[in-house]
Amino acid sequence: MRELKILAVVVFFTLLTYWGVEPYAHHEMHPTVEAPDYAFKGVDGLNGLDGNAKAGETLVQNNCVACHAIEKVGFAQSMDNASLAAAFQLTPPDLSNAGLLYNADYLAAFIKNPAKATKTEHKFQDGAVHPMPNYDWMQPQEIADMVAYLQSIAPKEVTNKEAFANACQRCHGIKYGDMLGGSMAAFTPDENIKAYMGKMPPDLSQYIRSRSESYLHEFVNDPQKHIDGTAMPRVGLTEAAEKQVITYMAEVGDSKKAERDELGPKFLIYFLVFAVFAWLWKAKIWRELH
Ligand code: HEC
Ligand code: HEC
Repeated sequence: MRELKILAVVVFFTLLTYWGVEPYAHHEMHPTVEAPDYAFKGVDGLNGLDGNAKAGETLVQNNCVACHAIEKVGFAQSMDNASLAAAFQLTPPDLSNAGLLYNADYLAAFIKNPAKATKTEHKFQDGAVHPMPNYDWMQPQEIADMVAYLQSIAPKEVTNKEAFANACQRCHGIKYGDMLGGSMAAFTPDENIKAYMGKMPPDLSQYIRSRSESYLHEFVNDPQKHIDGTAMPRVGLTEAAEKQVITYMAEVGDSKKAERDELGPKFLIYFLVFAVFAWLWKAKIWRELH
């Protein structure tokens, strides 16, 4: 009887401590936020219009290649990264993959009004303007045509690293991705990106460890949900592209994860077998004592 009472006390305090550390503390530190919205419901996107890629080609050539490279169709980057950043505050991304990486409605909304689509209008006040101009003076059909063109030239797939480079690397370095060559530094020089963002975007090498995967998905899809008023823009990736970006962060920052995940169940089976033997052993000893 005494043993049972002791067991009850131990179990009670163990459960209380566990609840305090896990469900309760976790809930206090990470209030639940809505899941990412990969349909981009709230944006002023295509509104159901179908684009004509051929018409879009001319429009993109006339409006976009002054700032953006589109290597896929022969528009090389016009200057090196530093000169581009000096001219436009940060290095504009190559648009070869944009039609694959970005949700079509988000892409249309971004072209119309980048600050609004990225939920960073709070940064562009008192004369400060987004480095990419608004194209909301164009016909909705023309915007749809440009989106259709970007989709038509996009490859069927990109590597995880390419997805990261295109969507994040103009602002963020991920230096563990390439310790030797240093090519995973941010494309935009530090002083330009700091001036534009108001602070240095952090190196992302270890964020897969310091934040949960669901946090990263929620954050990229809508940073304001987690850090109210943050300078980080909403990046309107499709669900698949966002998964690739975060998988790349895991490959760089937590390369042993797959191994660990695989080891977990084996470890539990080992404990279970071990527990059975321990119990049999205890039973044997007590049998001999009585
Ligand atoms: C004056 C230079 C300039 C022009 C012209 C321009 N852009 Fe941009 N664009 C930028 C810059 C700078 C960025 C990066 C902005 C940022 O990340 O805050 C950008 C970002 C983008 C992105 C990335 C979106 C995202 O959410 O990360 C896309 C897509 C894009 N532009 C498409 C276009 C298209 C299509 C056109 C032509 C209709 C165009 N741009 C014209 C400068 C320009
Ligand atoms: C136009 C620049 C820009 C782009 C593009 C950008 N970020 Fe950021 N990011 C920032 C800035 C600035 C911060 C710092 C925000 C703050 O502390 O308020 C930040 C912060 C972060 C953080 C830290 C959040 C935290 O909890 O502290 C993560 C994670 C992140 N970005 C991931 C990404 C990923 C993944 C991408 C690509 C899909 C990306 N960012 C694209 C500018 C950018």
